[in-house]
Amino acid sequence: DSYETILVERKGRVALLTLNRPKALNALNLQVMREVVAATEALDRDPDVGCIVLTGSAKAFAAGADIKEMSPQNYLDMYLSDWFTAWDRLGQVRTPTLAAVSGYALGGGCELAMLCDILLASDTAVFGQPEIKLGVIPGIGGSQRLTRAVGKAKAMELCLTGRTMDAEEAERAGLVSRVVPADDLLGEALTVAETVAGMSLPVAMMAKESVNRSFETTLTEGVRFERRLFHAVFATADQKEGMSAFTEKRAPKFTHR
Ligand code: HXC
Repeated sequence: DSYETILVERKGRVALLTLNRPKALNALNLQVMREVVAATEALDRDPDVGCIVLTGSAKAFAAGADIKEMSPQNYLDMYLSDWFTAWDRLGQVRTPTLAAVSGYALGGGCELAMLCDILLASDTAVFGQPEIKLGVIPGIGGSQRLTRAVGKAKAMELCLTGRTMDAEEAERAGLVSRVVPADDLLGEALTVAETVAGMSLPVAMMAKESVNRSFETTLTEGVRFERRLFHAVFATADQKEGMSAFTEKRAPKFTHR
């Protein structure tokens, strides 16, 4: 696979996908979208990948959708090409994903981070949905996922004023799970990813599916969905192994079956 705007590396069961358009602060043009989606879907099909880490540079995770590419488009260009819709596929991969965010995560960059399952930020991270300042609104789910993550009060203020929030505020608001010093971000992200990738992949997929279900359904239906998957994990060899290992006071050796 040869990509021009991203780098893909494998570290054991962890895959690291790095946005690599430094001259544009990783602005997300259509080529970046196609490459990120294609690479992620390929990794998702690989049973030897247990977690996919998505990161950018120290200065920018991604400074948004590519403004220069979008600027001349008219309504029918956007509608007929269904602009940005391919990004939805990133939210549909089954392998757990982790966004490691340093620097700017603005507009589409913030939305891309929110499409991932776990969000880790460096203390230099800056989040926001500044589209309104360009005369547009979020287009990759920002108005929906930011609101679910941080609640109406902050989401509304961010989307209407375009103001950004720093890593500390993002953590307080519940957008990111943890903030780490910039120099430790990648190391910490890979450590978390290795931990996730060390779990049973099908069981991790079910845990992810179950958490994500809570955004789509009522509590009663969500709990029912969880209960069915909970019963289903007892069909896996990894459940037997995990529980035997506990009883035998040793580390489990999951086979992802
Ligand atoms: C295209 C971008 C870009 C973007 C930066 N660049 N962001 N190109 N699209 N979103 C380019 C700049 O034009 C510049 O190219 C180079 O990257 C370096 O950026 P600078 O502005 O010179 O860097 P700096 O002064 O450090 O400022 C960083 C910044 C600023 C604060 C992040 O770049 C910025 O405000 N960018 C736009 C952020 C934004 O509004 N994002 C939301 C996009 S809209 P040259 O060639 O001049 O060197 C979006 C909406 C999706 O995502 C849905 C709506 C339809």
